[in-house]
Amino acid sequence: MNISVIGTGYVGLVTGACFAEMGNSVTCVDIDAKKVENLKEGIIPIYEPGLEKIVLQNHENQTLNFTIDIKKALQNSNICFIAVGTPMGEDGSADLQYVLAVAKSIGENMTHHMYIIDKSTVPVGTADRVKEMVQKTLDIRDSQLTFDVISNPEFLKEGVAVADFMKPDRVVIGADNERAFDVMRELYAPFTHSHERLVTMDIRSAEMTKYAANAMLATKISFMNEIANICERVGADVNQVRHGIGSDSRIGYSFIYPGCGYGGSCFPKDVQALAKTAKDFGYEPKILDAVEIVNYAQKRIISDKVIKKFGEDLNGKTFAIWGLAFKPETDDMREASSITIINELTKRGAKIKAYDPKAENEAKEHYLKGNNNVLYVCSKYDALSDADAMILVTEWKEFRSPDFDEMKKRLKNAIIFDGRNQYNRKRLCESGFEYFEIGVK
Ligand SMILES: NC(=O)c1ccc[n+]([C@@H]2O[C@H](COP(=O)([O-])OP(=O)(O)OC[C@H]3O[C@@H](n4cnc5c(N)ncnc54)[C@H](O)[C@@H]3O)[C@@H](O)[C@H]2O)c1
Repeated sequence: MNISVIGTGYVGLVTGACFAEMGNSVTCVDIDAKKVENLKEGIIPIYEPGLEKIVLQNHENQTLNFTIDIKKALQNSNICFIAVGTPMGEDGSADLQYVLAVAKSIGENMTHHMYIIDKSTVPVGTADRVKEMVQKTLDIRDSQLTFDVISNPEFLKEGVAVADFMKPDRVVIGADNERAFDVMRELYAPFTHSHERLVTMDIRSAEMTKYAANAMLATKISFMNEIANICERVGADVNQVRHGIGSDSRIGYSFIYPGCGYGGSCFPKDVQALAKTAKDFGYEPKILDAVEIVNYAQKRIISDKVIKKFGEDLNGKTFAIWGLAFKPETDDMREASSITIINELTKRGAKIKAYDPKAENEAKEHYLKGNNNVLYVCSKYDALSDADAMILVTEWKEFRSPDFDEMKKRLKNAIIFDGRNQYNRKRLCESGFEYFEIGVK
């Protein structure tokens, strides 16, 4: 099939590459000319395991192409994915300016019937707005062309995005006619051939499903963080509590790990966008608001512990940070807890020595740009030299079982603040470390 994907970010590039890998002919479009030029030269803008290989291979085979020319891309395809960003607007709602700009471009440039598929995470009712925009633009052209708008929200997880796309748990399709469902069945058949994974529904329900999924996962995280904070005050150990509740099959072990808050490009903005939608429709979303309030405080829990230990004035103190990305196996730092922790410490005079296996450039060029109190180092052990304490923020595999003797040798004080509850308290205390984790007194 001939496909165009508009927006070549995390979702667009993975979508384009995976469809190309299954034998389709795909053109990825972006307005960022530099990104497109780089991709043509084989420079991949993001770190995502397995992505580079399939992008390079399919580009070489000419089944995956990159362009800034949407007109050319639409001429050669009859299926068009919208995969541009939907960042948080000032009032918490999803900012739809990029999605609607693409809808307008499609209306201006399409030359035959198109299946227009919303893959971006968009509030309920957006497909109707996309439809209106395309139709309005066609009317201006005095064109009789027809089109279908379909909702196909994306559930991939950064860090395992290619694997998720290739073997999805489910593919949610919202459409209003059988022909549209049939096209989507054909498109996804190679990814779902071992068993049926397509979940078909009406368009508004598909749009809502994405928000409900992310809100549910964020709720589990904030719920467990709240339990951790109570544990800490009453003298219980959240690590033991986690095992105790996770063994209940109705609860399960996933997403109940306590930590220093969730970040990323999805949960923070999607929880707030859903809350805003609810309010716009006259409903007060008490749980969603609480999920966000708990997470805001949770991102400050490690800096609060550091301040409690070292005092409000951190001039002359240096802290080693292990991990900048919002989670392991990605270089994405959007809404990462590391940003809050580092800013809270440096504004009190502290210096930071930071190490992350992949996210250093993102930090330097965007999220911590201009913060001259941060020094980036090339290894986790280099970060520790002469630091007053180590702070673990992102649970990369290489941080799971470090050489604690080496750490002790390098650190000025054998102190660890663990934002992801990675280590064994007993072992660390026996080796002479002072160990602070979440949800344990
Ligand atoms: N990142 C994730 O893990 C993830 C997972 C599921 C869903 N989503 C959703 O998918 C959507 C995209 O997210 P992302 O993380 O890929 O965003 P991103 O910011 O990484 O990429 C968006 C891309 O769209 C491009 N763009 C903007 N306007 C354009 C236009 N008019 N024409 C062509 N290109 C344009 C940008 O230059 C950018 O490269 C969002 O709605 C997001 O919520 C993201």
